[in-house]
Amino acid sequence: MTYPFARLTAVLHFAVLTLVACTAHAADPVDVQLAGQPSKASHASSLMAPTQNIYARSHVSLDGRWSYIIDPYENGYYDYRHMPFDQSDSGKGGFYDDRKPKDKTEWVEYDFDHAPTMKVPGDWNSQAEKLQLYEGTVWLRQTFQADPKPGKHYALYFGAVNYEAHVYLNGKKLGMHKGGFTPFQFDVTDKLAKGRNVVVVKADNTRHQDEIPTVNTDWWNYGGITRDVLLAELPATWIADYKVQLAKGDARRIEGFIQMAGEAKAQQVTVSIPEAGIKTTVRTDANGRAALNFPVNKLTYWSPEQPKLYTVELSGGGDKVVDRIGFRTIETRGRDILLNGKSVFLRGISMHEENPLIPGRPRGAGDMRMLLQWAKEMNCNYVRLAHYPHSEEMIRLADEMGLMVWAEVPVYWTISWTNPDTYANANAQLTDLVTRDKNRASVVVWSVGNETPIGGPRNTFMSNLARTARSLDDTRLVAAALEIHRKGSDITVEDPLADYLDLASFNEYAGWYWASNAEMLNYRFDVRYNKPVVVTEFGAEALGGYHADADTRWSEEYQDTLYRNQFKMLSAIPGLRGMTPWVLVDFRSPRRQHPYYQDFWNRKGLVTDAGKKKLAFWTMKQFYDDVQRRYDTPATR
Ligand code: GCU
Repeated sequence: MTYPFARLTAVLHFAVLTLVACTAHAADPVDVQLAGQPSKASHASSLMAPTQNIYARSHVSLDGRWSYIIDPYENGYYDYRHMPFDQSDSGKGGFYDDRKPKDKTEWVEYDFDHAPTMKVPGDWNSQAEKLQLYEGTVWLRQTFQADPKPGKHYALYFGAVNYEAHVYLNGKKLGMHKGGFTPFQFDVTDKLAKGRNVVVVKADNTRHQDEIPTVNTDWWNYGGITRDVLLAELPATWIADYKVQLAKGDARRIEGFIQMAGEAKAQQVTVSIPEAGIKTTVRTDANGRAALNFPVNKLTYWSPEQPKLYTVELSGGGDKVVDRIGFRTIETRGRDILLNGKSVFLRGISMHEENPLIPGRPRGAGDMRMLLQWAKEMNCNYVRLAHYPHSEEMIRLADEMGLMVWAEVPVYWTISWTNPDTYANANAQLTDLVTRDKNRASVVVWSVGNETPIGGPRNTFMSNLARTARSLDDTRLVAAALEIHRKGSDITVEDPLADYLDLASFNEYAGWYWASNAEMLNYRFDVRYNKPVVVTEFGAEALGGYHADADTRWSEEYQDTLYRNQFKMLSAIPGLRGMTPWVLVDFRSPRRQHPYYQDFWNRKGLVTDAGKKKLAFWTMKQFYDDVQRRYDTPATR
């Protein structure tokens, strides 16, 4: 995929790496002479921390058509005694060997060369009829040529694989990763073959109670390699990670760090922001780490109205990386939210990572830009990217287009709160999200979850996640979509988790799941916190094009009337400082079975699955226009 951002894309200095298109009928199948197998299959994983700003590094994309084999019984992974082949003495026997029969007498019962192919990045559900509802293992294979250079490091990067990925290179296991929405990468420096290489991924989207998310979600369980696959070339010593952002509460100071990796980590590193007249040098310690802390005076602060991005250059140890970074402050003061010190109302909308005009997960920046353009057209300055980390491209687009972002991990509904592995998984996904997006000005909120039921183990689980978010990044707000409690028409927001969060943010469905349009105006909210109130969900389903009176459910008029009622009802809440109605676009869900109105679509979108705007879209825009006018004329606020 091309990477359209106004960022300095990598100029490929890379050794000649040509991608052998992996089509269903590749060139004569070549039996990859596997290097001598270790006496016992190596279980040491080659997982390494993802490289910050990977797209700006010298890399080759391994996107394209990958051959695939559907394997519902995982017999490409387990022998008939259900022992994993890759843990046997030889480590061989699985589909990852990509074996070919040596002659007509040999038994081999799979064949990637003559298998169907699918687009990567891309979920499998939307690419083959028989895979639409499939949950299980699919094997995917790509081949490519390499000519690795001595002294260089090579990283095999995956933007995301949903949900569990086992990755093999030339028949050897690189490692395993869990989590459907965060990047991971393997050090393949001493594993790349000169010439033809074969990467095989076992992707498994089976849902399990103890995973993150758990078995019950209201979105399509798109499986597969849903984001880019890159092979990056890094110098002997490289800039592995960095944070360059304004310090918490100080708009005139940049605070962060540099992390070197490779042979000689102790380096002199220069950080320059030419347009801001900044050039500063730090020395990393023996572990490759150096703190950044320097004054900055001549900045244009990033905002939705003026999404200013600066070219930031980091160089040291023979490496150089360039990024596009915006600088802004975000904080709360009592019940107010301040962006760059000025009170702001979060004119938002919730979104899934799905553009209904392109079946399945978005595959490129164009798919994402369309969605964010609809939000801008609605006069949004903010989007809730629910309920999981969206792609890096989406966040960089929000940086460029001027949309603040609520980023979220899929700690959704009824998680296994007492399972330490479940917590470690959630914590890892949150850490990976913050690690990836900590330099993105658009991200203003880290959300640790959605609608989780109050209880001791859950309060501990979630408050620990909030602590993790703050320890990784103290410059952004931390929140969650809290649940509410109803008694008659009294709605109370009182959740012990809120004590660890910066916002009183919650979902409510007055007029849809409880009450009707006629009754909902009786509801009163009691939000028991001196914090900004952000309503993270409300909404109603409407089948696009179905018109009836305002009391007829599923009609556009019902949805539109509900939105008007919501504005009246919510505007009575003191400290209301934002909202992200549910949801920008109709989206696919296995929980939505009404044969006529839904047909496996959740119809709460303000835009239909055909990209047509419903009546409520314009009502929402009108409300935000009014809000903007009120906020832009301080006297009347
Ligand atoms: C819930 C949930 C959403 C879901 C929505 C709905 O609050 O957070 O993921 O899609 O309500 O019921 O449509």
